[in-house]
Amino acid sequence: MQQLSLILTVILAIALTPSQWSLGISKIYGVYGQLSPTKNAPYRRFVPAFYIFGDSTADSGNNNELSTIARANFPPYGRDFDSRHASGRFSNGKMTSDWINSFLSLPLVPAYLSREARMFPFQGANFASAGAGILNNTGDVLGEKLSNWQQIELFLERRNELVARIGVVAASRHLRNSILYIATGGNDYIHNWITNDTDAALLPNDQFNALLLTTLRDQLQVLYNAGARKAAVLGIGPVGCAPHFLWQTNSTTGNCLEAVNGYVSQFNDGLREMLVQFNQRNRGVHFVYRDIFDVVYRMAKFPFNFGFTNGNTACCGVGNFGGGDRCLSPMMVCANPLFNVFWDEYHPSHRANNFIAKQLWSGVDPSTTTRNSTSTAVYSFLTIQQLAALQLTED
Ligand SMILES: *[C@@H]1O[C@H](CO)[C@@H](O)[C@H](O)[C@H]1NC(C)=O
Ligand SMILES: *[C@@H]1O[C@H](CO)[C@@H](O)[C@H](O)[C@H]1NC(C)=O
Ligand SMILES: *[C@@H]1O[C@H](CO)[C@@H](O)[C@H](O)[C@H]1NC(C)=O
Ligand SMILES: *[C@@H]1O[C@H](CO)[C@@H](O)[C@H](O)[C@H]1NC(C)=O
Repeated sequence: MQQLSLILTVILAIALTPSQWSLGISKIYGVYGQLSPTKNAPYRRFVPAFYIFGDSTADSGNNNELSTIARANFPPYGRDFDSRHASGRFSNGKMTSDWINSFLSLPLVPAYLSREARMFPFQGANFASAGAGILNNTGDVLGEKLSNWQQIELFLERRNELVARIGVVAASRHLRNSILYIATGGNDYIHNWITNDTDAALLPNDQFNALLLTTLRDQLQVLYNAGARKAAVLGIGPVGCAPHFLWQTNSTTGNCLEAVNGYVSQFNDGLREMLVQFNQRNRGVHFVYRDIFDVVYRMAKFPFNFGFTNGNTACCGVGNFGGGDRCLSPMMVCANPLFNVFWDEYHPSHRANNFIAKQLWSGVDPSTTTRNSTSTAVYSFLTIQQLAALQLTED
């Protein structure tokens, strides 16, 4: 019997494309399915460190050090994390960036504002900050945060420290082969444009998109000029599927708000194009687009295909769809977070983050099946797994 299931697994593994793979796994193993995508150890030697930029989908504790309501350093956050500790992560367990970190076989990189970050300067660092976005004043309504520009300034500070310690040649080699993970932009909609929070929010969507993209391009250029060569730049997820917006609009169907999704999809299309040009213009660079919209959308719409029972209700929250408030107390937690795509009003759960990470790690970009790509475009569609396997010696 055991032998038979092994054979079936092997046959399925051969028959499934990468995007179907996770689906197959969850059908075979149920919800406790294998969470690691592949053997990762060989990639480690080409990736000396992992640098994380972004928002609450990647903040591992920087906001604990700031004065803000955008914090998650209290239970029940972290209840399913390895340490069961509420570290500041907006998840019941791992965030997507943590899963990628573990696929790279690197120790989890510390939050830059924490004491550990100063103790281990060669591992990389996490600069992400809940509430932050591409624009400086995105998220200001929540309190202090590290904006994307500030995160980049801290990266430059770390670079100077490496140069001072090991010299410019070794520091350049370290940075060239390190992977940057950049997960930003969602809050520029959630805590800026949609809520009319700043002057920029008065712009029509296409002009706001253009402002986000030129700002992000300038930010990536600074990272490139500082020596970064491998980066995964994430698109924005389907914000219109977040329980918060279903609650806010008094949704009766629980369906995603497609108008909101349309705005962020337009950003994602622009980001793909921008990265193609960026890679053409800058010698030796591999800054790749990685899509999360498609996989999160599929989980929200078809939760059963992934072994979830609920695709639109926060496991921890109050009100319709659990979207009426943040996750504030262990009393608010659902029966079993394994079955919910969303952990709180905005953030996917530990297990949903695993599916997202597998897509980022080795999934094919969904847009490549619907449009023709030039050879340079293909270049910017490398997976993170492929980035990790690149060994860069010179520009
Ligand atoms: C954003 O903030 C940075 C400092 O972090 C500053 O250099 C830049 O000029 C600001 N940009 C705008 C548009 O205000
Ligand atoms: C933002 O402004 C637009 C245009 O003025 C308006 O239609 C919309 O209702 C406003 N949204 C919020 C959340 O205030
Ligand atoms: C949702 O329902 C509440 C309470 O009935 C109401 O105050 C609010 O205006 C409604 N919002 C929308 C967007 O319909
Ligand atoms: C892709 O290229 C083929 C042949 O060059 C063409 O027939 C097709 O319309 C193109 N598709 C798109 C989406 O541009």
